[in-house]
Amino acid sequence: MSEFSHSTLGTLGQFFDTHNRVHGNHPKKILHGPPALRLPSPAIYIEGLISVKDFEIETGTHAPYFMLTERESQKRKSSQSTQDPLTAEFILSKRTRSQASGPLPLRSEFGDIPGFSKIKFVFASVSVARDGMVSIEWPNLKDHDNIVTSTCLLQDTAFDQGKTKKVHKIIYDGLPWVAKRFFNVGTGEGDVEITENRDQLVKEASRLSRAAYFLKRFIAEAKRQGVDIEQGINVTEFKLGIEVVPDGSGPSAASEFSLEQYPAAVDAQADPNSDPGIVIWLFEPRRSSKVKHWSGTNEYPSWHQNKLGSTLNAFSHWAYLFSQESTVFSDLQTATAINEYGDGVQVLFDVMTHTLDKSSGVGDHGKTGIDIFLKKHECGNRCSHLRLSCEGFASEGVPADSDAEA
Ligand SMILES: Nc1ncnc2c1ncn2[C@@H]1O[C@H](COP(=O)(O)OP(=O)(O)O)[C@@H](O)[C@H]1O
Ligand SMILES: [Mg+2]
Ligand SMILES: [Zn+2]
Repeated sequence: MSEFSHSTLGTLGQFFDTHNRVHGNHPKKILHGPPALRLPSPAIYIEGLISVKDFEIETGTHAPYFMLTERESQKRKSSQSTQDPLTAEFILSKRTRSQASGPLPLRSEFGDIPGFSKIKFVFASVSVARDGMVSIEWPNLKDHDNIVTSTCLLQDTAFDQGKTKKVHKIIYDGLPWVAKRFFNVGTGEGDVEITENRDQLVKEASRLSRAAYFLKRFIAEAKRQGVDIEQGINVTEFKLGIEVVPDGSGPSAASEFSLEQYPAAVDAQADPNSDPGIVIWLFEPRRSSKVKHWSGTNEYPSWHQNKLGSTLNAFSHWAYLFSQESTVFSDLQTATAINEYGDGVQVLFDVMTHTLDKSSGVGDHGKTGIDIFLKKHECGNRCSHLRLSCEGFASEGVPADSDAEA
């Protein structure tokens, strides 16, 4: 109950009154609840009604599948599949969130959670044009009247990490996400400058955007050619969050950037009027941290007997050709998540690429990385069914015993 004392619009008493009125001023109902329910005394029984439509507008998320009527969920499924991702320029990180008009209904704010700090963020908007070019639009932090900030609860210390990034829990918009930052960009731990973290996260966001763009086209191509591939592969949703650092204070404890590092980095900004804020985090919806690895930085197992693995193997081959031989996706990993229809989906994240100009950030081995892919990639059935050219590849075919798939 103490949560209600944090309500944005009123006190617990007002909340009680509102609820009481719904029951026609019948306090007995609230104090005793329905007869079938045995409440410990004293107690207050409060019912809740959530309008799915309002919930979706308010949070910018989808209600879970099981909440919808059969008809509504059919309607949603069919409107999804008729949307043509190939013709529309799609925006990855902008969620629909209508501006609330009028006062919000009584709503509890989150209280304090030990080990978490309230940090304000603004978000960049990342979009991919029809030709696959990724562009990032930064909000102007100086434009106090027009920037939209979100107060999040950011975990002070990381709960997980890989070779390059630390991963913190974060509550954003009332939902569980993670926030990532670099602590190692190949020069050793703890040496990452503020601007280096920003540049690498921007590159990671571009890699994720490109992966999503390529994957959509790959799936469409497989469908067009009638090639059976693993269903429900996605690239993680993400956001680039910028910490709003209040005047006279420093970045979050979680960032581990010191009070000395911060102003120096601000001073070093090329154009303080148009440059973005500099303490950047990559937000992703929180998933299970159980991860399956399908390829390494320079390792490309063929996964002939595994549908997801061999689909991703064919994806790497297809993407290499589709990119005019300029990009190889490597280090492919998936985690399982549940989509808005309640179905299990495989989510790709933390993708690396090898690019001709070696410009895609950490893990990019440039032309050497591409050559290793050409040497090590082994085509599977899906490569040949998709009629992918093997020119330049060391291995040209499907081993004879590769038909059985688990
Ligand atoms: N969205 C997420 N939700 C929950 N756990 C995650 C999420 N993203 C990453 N993790 C966990 O954190 C680890 C490191 O994250 P990752 O992005 O792979 O960083 P690195 O670049 O250091 O490998 C992952 O292997 C996974 O276990
Ligand atoms: Mg990783
Ligand atoms: Zn192949």
